[in-house]
Amino acid sequence: MTHTLFEPLTLRDLTVRNRIWVPPMCMYSARAEDGIATPFHLMHYGSFARGGAGAIILEATAVAPEARISPRDLGLWDDAQRDALVPIVQLAHEHGAAIGIQLAHAGRKASTYPGFDAAGEGSLAPQDGAWRTLAPSPIPFPGLETPQQLDAEGIEAVVEAFVSAARRAAQAGFDLIELHAAHGYLLHEFLSPLSNARTDEYGGDLAGRARLLLRIVDAVRAEIHEGMPLLVRLSATDWVEGGLDVEEVGQVGAWLAAHGVDLLDVSSGGNIHPAPIPVGPGYQVPLASAVRAASGLPVAAVGMIDEPFQAEQVIATGLADVVLLGREMLRDQNFPIRAARALRFDGHYITPQYARAHR
Ligand SMILES: Cc1cc2nc3c(=O)[nH]c(=O)nc-3n(C[C@H](O)[C@H](O)[C@H](O)COP(=O)(O)O)c2cc1C
Repeated sequence: MTHTLFEPLTLRDLTVRNRIWVPPMCMYSARAEDGIATPFHLMHYGSFARGGAGAIILEATAVAPEARISPRDLGLWDDAQRDALVPIVQLAHEHGAAIGIQLAHAGRKASTYPGFDAAGEGSLAPQDGAWRTLAPSPIPFPGLETPQQLDAEGIEAVVEAFVSAARRAAQAGFDLIELHAAHGYLLHEFLSPLSNARTDEYGGDLAGRARLLLRIVDAVRAEIHEGMPLLVRLSATDWVEGGLDVEEVGQVGAWLAAHGVDLLDVSSGGNIHPAPIPVGPGYQVPLASAVRAASGLPVAAVGMIDEPFQAEQVIATGLADVVLLGREMLRDQNFPIRAARALRFDGHYITPQYARAHR
């Protein structure tokens, strides 16, 4: 059966109006280094909803203070952070979009300068508030500080932090949760043999390296209500010999399906630098379809999908079930309105105030 870009997608109790979604994108804009969303975030996420996106996935949001990539990340380890997200959720809903949140732990890539901060790059200096990073093994990401190996107690704390953040996300009214297990952050670090040299049950073979992710999936699934979809973002390959490859990730996807995950968001890379990544239009789409075939789950494709007909092709030819447009949505939050005209789609998708833009 073929689908189209503007066809709704149902996952559990959630029906999303179309298949053009916004992937998580860190904005490093918590003003006071308190993890709390500001008016910037309301404007930023609200504009995607107004522009006609199906679902918006909020940026990597740290489950604990030490889980932040930078001091300016959003967090969800306390109730004040949760409460500041409520207006964003409400605004998205008022404009017909579903809204989710990416829960993240930066692992050995934590404690760095925010992406566009002139103060420095790489690991934070002690005088700029550096903290000790945590990882499966004391193997540094190239160029960053050496992390501390998580012990059994530390692993329990990570599971608990994801569960508490998921509870707060549900309380704030988010429609779905995405767990960040890609791009070289903590859960990807456990999955990848490049960063996981553990000899306990959380290391070794693929089942061992996937154990923490599956534990968190089970614990989060048990915490949120049955109708709420759970997504996982994976890096389908490390792009280097001896790293994670798409066959292994397909197997992880099949396990995730058995553990109640509803959709896989298939990205790649991020755990080793430099890596020979063949970047180009739609370059990760084949990875998404391979993971879809291996796991049996719906997938989202992401990465340089920038044009309406290109996006439609990915969906209509059955390569993926959703397309995520990151930088293109930063350039043009109204991409869905533009795509609907280009594809001559005439259904209901647009925020009422903007309805005349379609005629
Ligand atoms: C500014 C920016 C911030 C990003 N932050 C995140 C993030 O928080 N979590 C994540 O999984 N990916 C993040 N990414 C990756 C995007 O989600 C997406 O996978 C990537 O940009 C490729 O898609 P695109 O070519 O459509 O932009 C970020 C990308 C950009 C440009």
